[in-house]
Amino acid sequence: MKGIILAGGTGSRLWPLTKALSKQLMPIYDKPMIYYPLSTLMTTGVREILIITTPEDLPLFKKLLSDGSQLGCIFEYAVQSEPKGLAEAFIIGKKFIGTSKVALILGDNIFYGNGLEKLLKDNYQPDGGIIYGYHVNNPKRYGVVEFDTTGKAISIVEKPDEPRSNYAIPGIYFYDNEVVAIAEKIKPSSRGELEITDVNIAYLKRERLKVSVLDKGIAWLDTGTFSSLMQASQFVQVIEERQGLKIGCIEEVAFKQGFINAKQLTKLATPLLKSGYGEYLMNLIR
Ligand code: G1P
Repeated sequence: MKGIILAGGTGSRLWPLTKALSKQLMPIYDKPMIYYPLSTLMTTGVREILIITTPEDLPLFKKLLSDGSQLGCIFEYAVQSEPKGLAEAFIIGKKFIGTSKVALILGDNIFYGNGLEKLLKDNYQPDGGIIYGYHVNNPKRYGVVEFDTTGKAISIVEKPDEPRSNYAIPGIYFYDNEVVAIAEKIKPSSRGELEITDVNIAYLKRERLKVSVLDKGIAWLDTGTFSSLMQASQFVQVIEERQGLKIGCIEEVAFKQGFINAKQLTKLATPLLKSGYGEYLMNLIR
């Protein structure tokens, strides 16, 4: 399975903070934001990843993550020149995806919690589409999924004025190869975007969509406002300081997944020793 991280957009909801620098490069405590979704994909076992971003930001992501070989991965880069929607990722990434299945994660979605790794690994080979529902206080800002009394998904609506449930759809999606053809067929919505929700509706109509509810023990953090961005940083800081373990540490995930060995990890840790980040990586080997 291949992976795509969508890290485009103008970030205008966070201006002036993100006027000159991509939202997905903003700090979440001790790491750039994209480390978190990247580590989530790597935890799932995905090693071939396409990073889609704007023409202006692409060199910065390349500077940060290069070709991925240092992490035992293969990173490719592509451009989304205008924010034309999440589903465009499958059209931009058509060649990269080839005949594979694909996981899409949004570059500003942060997941953390017990059982997450198993849940994601279980969905490594989707037959159809697999998405999640997560109970939130205010679902209006998201895609919203409605379940019937047996727990079967019956409707999906993008940013509804009157949500039919409290279950928002987080920005991590698993699809079989049909997703490319589906994305090519859908039409732009009233906000001019190819909506991921329309892709999910297409799978739902074919009865090929599995919607799992994410356990409340799993944190799905929002980074869409100044306040939620700050809270995400604070959340990571509290957990990391208390446990002495890092969240979203791509070097650690690469090592634990067996993508890289101790010697390669040492090489990654050495230039990071001054900040303390490198010391953490060295301790993983000890
Ligand atoms: C997008 C999707 C929405 C999903 C959300 C998750 O919203 O369109 O369905 O719930 O990501 O972060 P957007 O970020 O475009 O507002």
